[in-house]
Amino acid sequence: MNPLKIAIATDHGAFHHKEALKEHLLAQGYDVVDFGCFDESSVDYPDTIYPAAVAVSNKEVDAGIIFCGTGIGASIVANKVKGIRCALIHSVWLAQVTKEHNNSNMIAMGGRVVDIPTALECADMWLKTSFSQEERHQNRIDKMMVLED
Ligand code: RB5
Repeated sequence: MNPLKIAIATDHGAFHHKEALKEHLLAQGYDVVDFGCFDESSVDYPDTIYPAAVAVSNKEVDAGIIFCGTGIGASIVANKVKGIRCALIHSVWLAQVTKEHNNSNMIAMGGRVVDIPTALECADMWLKTSFSQEERHQNRIDKMMVLED
């Protein structure tokens, strides 16, 4: 099986988190598509986050992990894209339950909220966790996703 392909993106508020995550994922054998930003210069988060979310929605990548200073702006932008279920998280437990219950296809974290080791732990937990497949959760996801139409 091909390695999972992960989109990553941030604004300046979490540039070092994104760089650390990239190195961490590559070291584990994931394919990584980096949508920026590529230095600490100020950038508007929709400019980097939206293309990453579109790549997830179009299935050019398997999943997306995004950042901004708080994670809030990044998650709002991602959730504007059809097909995206982006969870704003700040703990390993949230990383686990959002995959099990929401089958989230993206997670967002805040570089000013979680430190880099926590962000990497959250990413690992989310990537290794599977959707529960429980009917009640699938029904809730189905009800959520028709709201897009
Ligand atoms: C940028 O300073 C900051 O507003 C942004 O990273 C994010 O926190 C927005 O939600």
